[in-house]
Amino acid sequence: HRHLLGIHDLSPFDIRAVLDLAEDYARLNQSHDKHADALRGLTQINLFFENSTRTQASFEIAGKRLGADVMNMSVGTSSVRKGETLIDTAATLNAMRPDLLVVRHHNSGAVALLSEKVNCAVLNAGDGRHEHPTQALLDALTIRRHKGRIQKLTIAICGDIANSRVARSNMLCLGKMENRVRVIAPPTLLPAGIDRFGVEVFTEMEEGLKDCDVVMMLRIQNERLEGQAVPSTREYFHRYGLTEDKLALARPDAIVMHPGPMNRGVEIDPAVADCERSVIREQVEMGVAVRMAAMDLLARNLRAERMA
Ligand code: CP
Repeated sequence: HRHLLGIHDLSPFDIRAVLDLAEDYARLNQSHDKHADALRGLTQINLFFENSTRTQASFEIAGKRLGADVMNMSVGTSSVRKGETLIDTAATLNAMRPDLLVVRHHNSGAVALLSEKVNCAVLNAGDGRHEHPTQALLDALTIRRHKGRIQKLTIAICGDIANSRVARSNMLCLGKMENRVRVIAPPTLLPAGIDRFGVEVFTEMEEGLKDCDVVMMLRIQNERLEGQAVPSTREYFHRYGLTEDKLALARPDAIVMHPGPMNRGVEIDPAVADCERSVIREQVEMGVAVRMAAMDLLARNLRAERMA
């Protein structure tokens, strides 16, 4: 592959290749000297049109650990504010000859569009409600480390499915790896056409959580709600917030995940977020390893393409 735009484009073989290499990088990241040279001589630009803590920081750390020259484009102080378009911004940065461009944008499809206008490898760091592929890959790696496998598991994705690119990439990734994927949400937060994903749909936590190996909670994407009827915070927490009582319905060894940022007391009880079964911090740790692996693999393809 030239770009990493979505899980949609990856085969189970591709997914395993990223996870296996990321395991090596996870070990490197726990050692004293965290440096490797897979991206030495290459330039990486991070272009984030939407806020981020985890994704931007981990892509920056990943690039630096692999020896790339990393530049974070500050969109808020850039000429985007003077009306320069996405495509002109991309063409301008492309003229500086980057090798890897990491892009987050509020519009679904914007990153794929941009990838057609540049000569470098493009990684989707989240586009609208569409995809967040490295999030799904880091989630898969975290699950595999805890369960010893990434197939034939029962996994519940709970909350704002309609507006979540994390949900979409995870449904695709976990489905491709032959897991039993459930979504649990109020009817107003389920997207039209959910049946296409081959998932089981529940509207009550009490039913959907039964016998799950993995419980993945999602934030309500308030920034993307367009007049959708959502219950009050209090009512939402009562019915859909993950509490110890609700978690007791899942398997005794079930793990709790959340991509972050969390809204404690809305979709998750703080006691559950911080409990022994929560792997939320490990997800962040695996985020660096997965992004190192993804950029390493794309850089290999880029070098092979340039040699040809
Ligand atoms: N999970 C995730 O994408 O977090 P950020 O928005 O902080 O990058």
